[in-house]
Amino acid sequence: MSARRPKPVAPAPGSARLPVSVYKLGGPALEDAGLLAPLARDVAATGGHVVLVHGGGRMIERLLATLGLESHFVAGRRSTSPEAMEAVEMALSGRVNKALAAGLQAAGVPAAGISGRDGGLLRATPLAGYGCVGSQVLVQPDLVLALWGAGFVPVVSPVSSGPAGEALNVNADEAALALGAALFARRLVYLSDVDGVRVGGEPLPTLGAARAAALIAEGTIQGGMALKVEMALDAARRGVAEVVIAGRARLEGGFPGTRVLPETGQTTAQEAR
Ligand SMILES: Nc1ncnc2c1ncn2[C@@H]1O[C@H](COP(=O)(O)OP(=O)(O)OP(=O)(O)O)[C@@H](O)[C@H]1O
Ligand SMILES: [Mg+2]
Repeated sequence: MSARRPKPVAPAPGSARLPVSVYKLGGPALEDAGLLAPLARDVAATGGHVVLVHGGGRMIERLLATLGLESHFVAGRRSTSPEAMEAVEMALSGRVNKALAAGLQAAGVPAAGISGRDGGLLRATPLAGYGCVGSQVLVQPDLVLALWGAGFVPVVSPVSSGPAGEALNVNADEAALALGAALFARRLVYLSDVDGVRVGGEPLPTLGAARAAALIAEGTIQGGMALKVEMALDAARRGVAEVVIAGRARLEGGFPGTRVLPETGQTTAQEAR
């Protein structure tokens, strides 16, 4: 079933190597033209390996509307028909991926745009009841390692392959979590159009699992943010030392975002990594 695995050209994850940072850019953040320059500076300053994953909800919305295709959200995920999936792939792995990679390249980052379907990078299981939506993402990271080995920064569309090689729409927050865990990332930064997880109009400096569950249950954290917080918590539990939900301010030296911790007040086991 699986494609022949190319020989890794860079050290395998987990061996002695540079620290890994994963950035996830949401659709709304992608439409902020002023984000690219500070993002490029932040990426250049990490001093380790970087991979970027992007969403693109708003762009998908517009393309689906233009094509007259209906779609709706269920618990932060877009229910996706086969026709809508074609449009999702066009938008995410096409326009959004290429625009972000080109924008970063112009800002001095050696970016290479790929999708989860390239090199067998992301494989997912169809999520019952959602159409062409995938979850439980498995990562085969050789293409990312090869790009790092050649000096490139991979920019990844979350469109993934299903069991038969078909395209599946995977929430970008979940794709970022999967990549962060598989690549033994030290840092995972979710960049959205808000400066952090907000309660009563103010962004929280930290958020632990118990409070997150309560805030989601009472509806203070909703929709895309609820799913993002769940993915962020999962990443923290799976050993990513620094998991942050932030906005443009973080890149410009302002509010650094909401640090997500596996339990209230805890840091992760691999803080020193
Ligand atoms: N408590 C909360 N704090 C902050 N944002 C919240 C909260 N509850 C709901 N939200 C909403 O969550 C949105 C961010 O999630 P959303 O899924 O829309 O964006 P994204 O994940 O950055 O982009 P994409 O889904 O395209 O990848 C915010 O714009 C905000 O409207
Ligand atoms: Mg989202």
